[in-house]
Amino acid sequence: MCGIVGYIGTRQAQDVLISGLSKLEYRGYDSAGVAIRDGGHISVEKKAGKLANLATVLEQRPLHGTLGIGHTRWATHGLPNDTNAHPHASEDGKIVIIHNGIIENYLPLKEALLKRGHKFSSETDSEVLVHLIEEKYQQAGGDLYEAVRLALGDVRGAYGIVVTHVDHREIVAARTVSPMVMGVGEGEMFLASDVPALLPYTREMVFLHDGDMVVLHDDGFKVTDLKGNEVRREIEHIDWDAEAAEKGGYDSYMMKEIYEQPNALTNTLIGRLHDDTGQVNLDINLDPASFKRISIIACGTAFYAGMVGEYLIEQLARIPVDIDVASEYRYRNPLVSENTLAIVMSQSGETIDTLEALREAKKYGAKTLGIINAKGSSMTREVDDTLYIHAGPEIGVASTKAYTSMVSAMLMLALWLGRARGTLDETAGRKLLHSARELPRLVEAALEPERVENIRAIAEKYADSRDFLFLGRGVNSPTAYEGALKLKEISYIHAEAYAAGEMKHGPIALIDEHMPVVVIATESKLLEKTISNVQEVRARKGRVILLLSDGDTENARYGDDVIYVPRADEMVSPVVNAVALQLLSIFIAQKLGKDVDKPRNLAKAVTVE
Ligand code: AGP
Repeated sequence: MCGIVGYIGTRQAQDVLISGLSKLEYRGYDSAGVAIRDGGHISVEKKAGKLANLATVLEQRPLHGTLGIGHTRWATHGLPNDTNAHPHASEDGKIVIIHNGIIENYLPLKEALLKRGHKFSSETDSEVLVHLIEEKYQQAGGDLYEAVRLALGDVRGAYGIVVTHVDHREIVAARTVSPMVMGVGEGEMFLASDVPALLPYTREMVFLHDGDMVVLHDDGFKVTDLKGNEVRREIEHIDWDAEAAEKGGYDSYMMKEIYEQPNALTNTLIGRLHDDTGQVNLDINLDPASFKRISIIACGTAFYAGMVGEYLIEQLARIPVDIDVASEYRYRNPLVSENTLAIVMSQSGETIDTLEALREAKKYGAKTLGIINAKGSSMTREVDDTLYIHAGPEIGVASTKAYTSMVSAMLMLALWLGRARGTLDETAGRKLLHSARELPRLVEAALEPERVENIRAIAEKYADSRDFLFLGRGVNSPTAYEGALKLKEISYIHAEAYAAGEMKHGPIALIDEHMPVVVIATESKLLEKTISNVQEVRARKGRVILLLSDGDTENARYGDDVIYVPRADEMVSPVVNAVALQLLSIFIAQKLGKDVDKPRNLAKAVTVE
């Protein structure tokens, strides 16, 4: 999950690289570096720590040249320090590479290279690549592309690699698993691991596929496969405006993206809901009668969106659903057949565990569907079809708008399946479809200033707590899990979630006057049972933060603090309730002075195991 940028053209490469890397810091930021070619010389500068450290050095000692490669790192092998930072250079200093991914067979490769006399300067797996390329460069008769291609023939694992050589005005790149996008300019070419880095320079982009190699020159590019056969890749116009990848006036990407949710949901739903017939038009080539069970596979927040989906699909379409975190699914020899629909959910479309789980499901003949945000991402090229959530770029490491958009996409899928399979009649379908159509407005209402200020006050009151418990029932049980994840990943406070009915089976032992318990008690057929769970907590001096639907004054007495959320149909309430919990978490984290966009130890897309 590192950030990668490459440039060849007429501009000073250093400016393009630093600008591009600053847009990718969320992909990894424990060190950063650049290599810039200026005629017959390549200069390398790399620094541990955040990108600002490198930028400061370069301000004092600028590197001149119009060809360069740059990297921000999220360490997998080797400590975050100057030596392990990328780029890595060959021993003769003529070849430099940057790498995103993990070389699974780097140890045997390194041992063999050491035996052949190579000297390593870092502890990284990536450095193996530059020594391999250096060796193959001789074999390839000075052809850099061929040297890289031959070297990659020895490599197993995930890579997005960008290479240049002091004797060649060209950039060679290749990707397998790790994402890479190319930007096409006038007399200049760009490479990056993600779109936002390129938006200030071009909107014409080529999403490289797994197994693609590319050679960039000032005036164009050539894409081949790893065997050297030329392949065609379309140039796509990306309509994200640059501001969409910036903070837009908010103090963090995460806050901006919380407030973007009404708009994101509009984009998720737009063109897919037909009021008159209660039908949903998903435009996916999936025959609802062609499978008998569904497996939902995802990680983290996407997994909790899948948990909501499991509930909705079983309720509305009466199809058996199982759900698993991808890292478990991959290795549990899952029961899969051609009667299985495997749904992978992912904001980035690059999470390695989910991607490999998808491949596992396909191996056994499952039909596959992606519920994904990132256009052109790896998963979208390997599923049978993709239901894009159209949430726009999500930069904050803690997922917010992608979560609510994924849940909404799941709601539409459940509606579509229910209507198609006749388990949901037109009246019920129309009612739910109307509720779904209301979501952008309901979320807008959930973000009204007085509600937000009430949540901020509650957050500040409990910010010094050491532990939190989140409880929910039914379709809002996953909401509790997502709420707990949001809190722990940006505030570093321990938080865990349970189905509220589970309290008496152990967790209630945790309750005392120091333990805030967030309980989702919004409109539901299980509300009464949830309130009795709340009373169990209060009887043990637990401090209850109660989420209630607007107008529920009856149950307010059971909360030490109450967060009112817009009243919504139970089936769509997870979307509305999640917004309140996102705000609770970000206000607690801000009170504690945390960097909510770049939480410690985390990266936006986990593209290595
Ligand atoms: C979400 O807040 C987390 N940052 C993380 O759990 C994330 O949801 C998970 O890594 C899956 O990412 P994906 O949706 O891009 O596959």
